[in-house]
Amino acid sequence: MVTAPAVTSEAFYRLVTDPSPSLLVTAVLGALIVLGFLSFKSRGSEKVLPGVPELKGIPILGAAPIYLKHGMPELLGRLIAMGPDGISYANVVDNILVSVHDPDMVKEVHSFPDDVASREGAEGKMSWSPFWTLRRLIGNSLFNYVGPEVSHQRNVFIREFNKDKANAEKVETIVRIAQTHADALTCDVDSADIPDIRYSADNSAIAFWGETLYGNPHRHASLPQTRPVGGKVLELSEHIITLAGNPWPSVWYSFQLFFMMVTPGEPTRSEAALRLKVGKVVEGNVTKLEEYERNNPEAPLKTICNLSVMSGGAKTGPLSKFASEFTNLNLFGGRHSIGLNVTWSLIELDKHPECLTKLMAEIHSVDTTDFTSVNSKMPYLDAIIMELNRLHPTVHATVRVVNKETRLTSSKRIPVVLKPGMLIYLSYFYLHTAEKFWGSNSMEFDPQRFVGGDWKESPFMSFGYGPRNCVGYKFAVLAAKVYLVTLLKTYKLDVRDHDHEMKLGTLLETQKPVAVKVTRRG
Ligand code: HEM
Repeated sequence: MVTAPAVTSEAFYRLVTDPSPSLLVTAVLGALIVLGFLSFKSRGSEKVLPGVPELKGIPILGAAPIYLKHGMPELLGRLIAMGPDGISYANVVDNILVSVHDPDMVKEVHSFPDDVASREGAEGKMSWSPFWTLRRLIGNSLFNYVGPEVSHQRNVFIREFNKDKANAEKVETIVRIAQTHADALTCDVDSADIPDIRYSADNSAIAFWGETLYGNPHRHASLPQTRPVGGKVLELSEHIITLAGNPWPSVWYSFQLFFMMVTPGEPTRSEAALRLKVGKVVEGNVTKLEEYERNNPEAPLKTICNLSVMSGGAKTGPLSKFASEFTNLNLFGGRHSIGLNVTWSLIELDKHPECLTKLMAEIHSVDTTDFTSVNSKMPYLDAIIMELNRLHPTVHATVRVVNKETRLTSSKRIPVVLKPGMLIYLSYFYLHTAEKFWGSNSMEFDPQRFVGGDWKESPFMSFGYGPRNCVGYKFAVLAAKVYLVTLLKTYKLDVRDHDHEMKLGTLLETQKPVAVKVTRRG
């Protein structure tokens, strides 16, 4: 056991909290070898999951080099390739990562109650789950809650974001913001070259939230959007997203825990600094809300106040704990995902002009500013959004940490026994794109597969599955649809490159900027 003197040295503390990259890599790999060696003794060489293929990697560290160098999506890809029966695993410095990629087993894992498996793992117990990192960065949110209060929280979210009545009330605002942001692309001229439409799409999503949650209509609307700029909020949001999906913060955290430099579950120094920035953004938004309420005393409550009232808060004054937690969560989720939906739609529609023609005909046949029309009278738009989320699922994977020993009964092999602490990775991307589920054209964009009900036999889980599925998907889809339709009605869009490839990071991104020429329609 390494003793504590290092902890007392301020220089060493600085080194490990804000180290240079090369020192960091050397120190961490060294520590991993030590940690790996210490823990390896306890596991010995017995097979952790008998009968299940194991990706062996190198002694002691197992598949850690793949994970740390290439990230989880790459490791997951290799695990999937070697597990034809829908399950395989690897050891990463004594963390057992199991890939479950058979649709029935994936559904079974999603259906486990929280006490059997949860996103973060047992309370206070360090896990390498990205959700552990996320909580340190933004505090508690529904993502990490388990137990009885979850159903109330989910109901509040669902009433506000997944019910037609609540979304119908938001549509006028979304339409207005979408048009303002679309118009800002060319700033009063007929056409413009947008170096990276991803920023415009993300900024619009930020504005949807700013206005619906806080009554702040000006968020980024005045940015000269022909420049690829994101603004401070987007930058912070991107930083949180990147850290949450990166293995290094977990490695680093294990290291700091081992040397007792951090209290389990509490943020490190740099994480605490980031939380302060989150606090500042939220503070600014709440100030805008107060201003809005002062200027509009008779207006209906803004969404964040609705969330607050539904969770025990007063109509004015401080937000409820639940609503405050959402102000932070909102900096992580639901922005970039909406933006990515729009960005990928533009890329695919440009590559498939026949789909665009069909969609334009539908757009011209209904009033696209009307909630009922956009929500339920545009079947081809629906098919496009479904196909888009199949082929480019923004959340391309998720994870569960086993809390209690359990068996996977749907396994085709001998019953698989999952032990506490194991991380179960579930790849939506694989389920959505494997030929065996979607046919030989599984990597092709073909909205037609979602016209009619045949697709229901195939695994589609863009917004999760089961008791912890997405509580905001209807709002997200509505916002993405309205912005996409508004762009298409306002401009003829020419996506400059047709070779955009997917990058599986924390979310499913494009590899490179998405340059688009936009020309106003006559
Ligand atoms: C295109 C946009 C979106 C996508 C692709 C998406 C996807 C997902 C997925 C896959 C899950 C389940 C993850 C798991 O099982 O571990 C999830 C859960 C969740 N989503 Fe979304 N989401 C989107 C938009 C939103 C929005 C707009 C909100 C905000 C209202 C939201 C809030 C949540 C929350 C709070 C959960 C956790 C629910 C729980 O634990 O019970 N999402 N989302």
